[in-house]
Amino acid sequence: MLIRKLEKKDAAELKRCRLRALCESPDAFLVTHGEVSDTPLAALEAELVDDDICYVGAFVDGALAGFMRLVRFPRLARRHVAEVRSVHVSAAYRGQGMGAGLLHRLIELARQAGIRSLILAVLADNVAARRLYESCGFRLYGVEPCAVRKGDGYIDQALYALDLAAG
Ligand SMILES: CC(C)(COP(=O)(O)OP(=O)(O)OC[C@H]1O[C@@H](n2cnc3c(N)ncnc32)[C@H](O)[C@@H]1OP(=O)(O)O)[C@@H](O)C(=O)NCCC(=O)NCCS
Repeated sequence: MLIRKLEKKDAAELKRCRLRALCESPDAFLVTHGEVSDTPLAALEAELVDDDICYVGAFVDGALAGFMRLVRFPRLARRHVAEVRSVHVSAAYRGQGMGAGLLHRLIELARQAGIRSLILAVLADNVAARRLYESCGFRLYGVEPCAVRKGDGYIDQALYALDLAAG
């Protein structure tokens, strides 16, 4: 397994992997398959060269099998904070440390960029993702009730933070 920062040349592979993620785990994401499918490749390429956005990917035999995205807040007063988004490991590779490997690399890159704290939101019923975040040191700091509409009901979002200044 090779874990590295994704570049502009990875856009097509990333789009394929994101679409596969939405087929495999549609309930884990707020964005829909249709929305990603309709997004032009140029938009993804623009994200991949944006200094405030960082994707890391895990490759197996040259194919992208997992990815995560870090988005730094633009306002001066918030530039020390970045949000972890778009977390996915292909079903065939789960439970083998790929998620943790990706998150450790993202944390390392955040530190290098001078970011002080990482935040993320996860559907409260997503046990695997919550375990991943907690195993990498993220702490629960709140719950947004009824944050996401699902079918006839609502699901809470668990809010996590990692203080990179703490050591
Ligand atoms: C969440 C996800 C990224 C985890 O990736 P992964 O490669 O399987 O995770 P890892 O193998 O690195 O495991 C990391 C930790 O999570 C735990 N974990 C992984 N899957 C688990 C599961 N199904 N149930 C309970 N714990 C689980 C592992 O035991 C490990 O904890 P430990 O270090 O205490 O042993 C993966 O399940 C996934 O892509 N899910 C669908 C998309 C998703 O939910 N994304 C998150 C949106 S916020």
